Amino acid sequence: MPTQQEVFGGGLAVVTGAGSGLGAGLARHLAGNLGMTVIAADVDESAVRAIAAEEHGRGGRVVAHVVDVRDPDAMVRLARQVRDEFGPVRLLINNAGVEQVGYLWDVPPERWRRVVDINISGVFHGIRAFLPAMIEDEQRSHVLAIASVGAVTTLPLQAPYVMSKHAVLGMVECLHQEIAQVGADVSVAAVLPGPVASNIFSAAGGVESGDVAAAEEHRQAMLAMLEQAISADEAAATIVEQAAQGEFYIVTHPETVHAAMAARADQLTHRRAPAPHRSRFGRRD
Ligand SMILES: NC(=O)c1ccc[n+]([C@@H]2O[C@H](COP(=O)([O-])OP(=O)(O)OC[C@H]3O[C@@H](n4cnc5c(N)ncnc54)[C@H](O)[C@@H]3O)[C@@H](O)[C@H]2O)c1
Repeated sequence: MPTQQEVFGGGLAVVTGAGSGLGAGLARHLAGNLGMTVIAADVDESAVRAIAAEEHGRGGRVVAHVVDVRDPDAMVRLARQVRDEFGPVRLLINNAGVEQVGYLWDVPPERWRRVVDINISGVFHGIRAFLPAMIEDEQRSHVLAIASVGAVTTLPLQAPYVMSKHAVLGMVECLHQEIAQVGADVSVAAVLPGPVASNIFSAAGGVESGDVAAAEEHRQAMLAMLEQAISADEAAATIVEQAAQGEFYIVTHPETVHAAMAARADQLTHRRAPAPHRSRFGRRD
């Protein structure tokens, strides 16, 4: 099996949502441990500049770029600028994503759109901006999309998010087939993390009317679960290791994610309606 260093070492990576949580962990790992030049793209300018400065202090090369993955033209401009300044991209990680809590019928339409535009369209915009040149490149390149264990299961009070991660997984499975069809040397993978320490639930959208208490109680339960999560740095190292080994379904919590996959396969095979949810992670297990 090739090592991370052999596959990615010294190359160029682009990570969206690199200002916090998993994206920041990925940027640190790729730059600090693998000597990659990392384009850290985020809508939060101060956060992404802080990650770049922190890594610079350790001798790693992280270049901050302010970009909103919701903007297809901005993503195309980013791809052109990166290619002109740094050359071909070896690893693209479509990571930016947001959460939403609350019963589906209480979710304000603008919050629904925020999830769809960032979590689904943002991944599409990254693929659309970067893939054409990666397909043309002579060197092998890699595209990861950060989905979630939520891509293979369902749970109440997070419907927009779960829906978006099912969409990302479907999109990336299709992309994998398309890349095989055109015979390009691009490795495509879907990442299904379990709980990773991050700001995702403090930044999650809430609801303003309806059952606000249920939404906020769910947010608190998820924040409590994340207290027992693995670190972003640990998750990043596991993810990149599996990417180097050519896995398509990349997981950070193999036992629980495989159990969720098996449960979903069984549910569909037997055409069973979704059972009441019971978390496999953290305190509520
Ligand atoms: N933390 C977890 O437990 C967990 C589990 C499974 C999957 N994930 C996925 O991991 C990814 C990263 O999430 P995280 O947990 O690190 O969250 P986080 O909130 O800590 O970080 C998300 C980053 O994305 C950035 N971002 C938000 N909207 C953006 C936009 N429009 N354009 C560019 N950047 C934008 C934010 O500024 C932030 O820096 C997401 O796709 C999330 O769904 C997280």
